Amino acid sequence: AGLAIPLGKAEAQPASTRPAALPNDRRFPADFVWGTATSAYQIEGAVSAEGRGPSIWDSYSHTPNKIRGGGNGDHAVDHFHRYKEDVQLIKALGAKAYRFSISWSRVFPTGVGTPNPQGLDFYNRLIDELLANGIEPFATLYHWDLPQALQDRVGGWASSDTSKAFGDYAAYVAPRITDRVKNIFTINECGTFVDFGYGRGPVELAPGLKLPQPQLNQVRHHVALGHGMAVQAIRANGRADTRVGVAENVASCVPAIETPANIRAAEIATREMNGGYMTVILEGRYTDAFLAYAGKNAPSFTAEELKTISSPVDFVGLNVYMPQYYVVASGDQHGFALVPFPTSFPRMDSDWLRIGPEALYWAPRNVAKVWSVKQIYISENGTSAADRPAGDGKIHDLDRVMYLRNYLTHLQRATSEGVPVGGYFHWSLMDNFEWSDGYDKRFGLYHVDFATQKRTPKLSAEFYRSLIAANALV
Ligand code: NOJ
Repeated sequence: AGLAIPLGKAEAQPASTRPAALPNDRRFPADFVWGTATSAYQIEGAVSAEGRGPSIWDSYSHTPNKIRGGGNGDHAVDHFHRYKEDVQLIKALGAKAYRFSISWSRVFPTGVGTPNPQGLDFYNRLIDELLANGIEPFATLYHWDLPQALQDRVGGWASSDTSKAFGDYAAYVAPRITDRVKNIFTINECGTFVDFGYGRGPVELAPGLKLPQPQLNQVRHHVALGHGMAVQAIRANGRADTRVGVAENVASCVPAIETPANIRAAEIATREMNGGYMTVILEGRYTDAFLAYAGKNAPSFTAEELKTISSPVDFVGLNVYMPQYYVVASGDQHGFALVPFPTSFPRMDSDWLRIGPEALYWAPRNVAKVWSVKQIYISENGTSAADRPAGDGKIHDLDRVMYLRNYLTHLQRATSEGVPVGGYFHWSLMDNFEWSDGYDKRFGLYHVDFATQKRTPKLSAEFYRSLIAANALV
């Protein structure tokens, strides 16, 4: 018996001797946008610079026992002062795009009223630096750092005043950046910051409230409304070629075993399990199942608000980290059943993050199919890993390379089947402040020594660079 080609030889075969055109040649579309992502509070630091007002994350991270290791974003990874160096890190990857977020309280220190004239200067410098280096900026308007004054005055997203204030902030920013920024995400991961910030989950996020169900559903509704108001504000104040969308951490519904019945079950689950945001944003209605489940705790809303929330978007951003597995359930009224994770299911360094590469095929495939979405970006995907510099100073994050290779294999399946995914933003460019996990969890392609702020490319940065250069799996 034995293999026709001894393993050793197969491994040693240089890439160039591979057949040129396999049926599936592992390539991505020619115009595919490769990028990385970050957010303001997680990287910038300089929390009092140039008139910035405090956000709920300043207060929350300075509250004892909220952050693992007691860290905060006061200095973070000092991106505010090192942005030029960081743009070179992006360039060294060969990445064509970069997704960053704008801190609302830099622009409106108290969330509303008189803007801080210096507020946008930093982002204008960053945008110009990106463009000068051939990198396309994708801006996010809200990545969780609500101006503290809005939390104090109206209870943050518990009030629709905040939805309106968010629309006004978007109206101010849009005409000032859309000459150079063509793609804008309104809100990042509605579901995460609402559930863990206002409803308290296994993880806790700012402002750290635990509201009863009816109020929590109302918060959800106000966040969706804020998104819609921002879309309208950007349309009214941006340019004809400005494109706008949301970035949501959708439930990535994967058929546990790929049978036609399970595939259908995962499609139904996609619509129902994303009923709070995606369905209302893309359909202008809450699903019957959502309203029935919420019962007397359902949010109050008007038809006009639903219209605002479902203002047409140009693309949908999906933050995809982990799968949820479904099978068909014939007796069940919904037709789908969630399969729980066994305790031995693979994780890497974050407890919550289960490793299921198929998520990166099924999430965009199902979103495109269920809502006929024409343009999708993977606005985030990545993992933490226990990255430690080795004796040679290098960070051999083989596990992140494995993660990337496997997840991107499934993304490539999606693009090769015609699922309209236009780009992929790896979370994250560099290690940073991972919310309540503080500086304990590292998600970067670049390692950051938090004491010296030195950036070092990990093996995964090298992998990602090669993949971008080939525009194919390597
Ligand atoms: C999603 C969030 O948008 C981002 O801020 C966070 O750091 C990553 N997930 C990793 O947890």
